[in-house]
Amino acid sequence: MQFIDTHAHLNFSDYDKDRDEIIASAFKNGVKYIINVGTDLNTSKESISLSKKYDRIFATVGWHPHDAESYDENELLKLLDNKKIVAIGEIGLDYYRNLSPQNIQKEVFEKQIKIAIDKNLPIIIHDRNAHNDVLEILKKYNPKKVVFHCFSSEYSLLWKITEKGWHASFTGSVTFKKGEYYSIIKDIPDDRFFVETDAPFLTPKPFRGKRNRPEYVRFIIETIAEIKQKTPNEIAGITTQNAEKFFLLTKKLD
Ligand code: NI
Repeated sequence: MQFIDTHAHLNFSDYDKDRDEIIASAFKNGVKYIINVGTDLNTSKESISLSKKYDRIFATVGWHPHDAESYDENELLKLLDNKKIVAIGEIGLDYYRNLSPQNIQKEVFEKQIKIAIDKNLPIIIHDRNAHNDVLEILKKYNPKKVVFHCFSSEYSLLWKITEKGWHASFTGSVTFKKGEYYSIIKDIPDDRFFVETDAPFLTPKPFRGKRNRPEYVRFIIETIAEIKQKTPNEIAGITTQNAEKFFLLTKKLD
């Protein structure tokens, strides 16, 4: 079984002691590609460095809503010169922690959407307790390629994004909140979702509470397979194909 971890933060200090081993182990244990996601200037640069060091790691760049106040558009544009960048993200709104004022979060979110459209790059959304504003802002610009990372278990949101042709991505949450996610996973069309760890966070069962690692995507796939009554291999195939097409991964390797 081969699969893609479409959202990890392997640059975080959680991996400072054994990053190379964690990555080697991932590629030995089913991971085909990893997308390492930036959240501000430094982490975006670190994501690019990882993508340069490892053929099978891709990078995204962007300012997370927590870091909206440090947004620097010139720096973002400079970073985008790198050819292994596969998306702008993670960007969006976080009204749960509100680490930046909401008006600044919105402004920085909109600016980055415009750049993504201009550069023809997919957008990775971070949306926490901000569905209405996130949807309203997205609909204003109507980007074609959007994925809601760590998709929430709110059923009505599913149809609001799939009707726009957008995607959802599932983390380890689906393994420990299986009941809450059951209907969403059962009903989401096969061509509309990916899988991700959000490592080091959201470690799936049976390793919940420990540090996450890309190879644990396997457990997310197994849960989805059980709910969709397919084999894990089928779900791995579907999600790999979806992610490769959405992020144009093989094209970026040419
Ligand atoms: Ni993340």
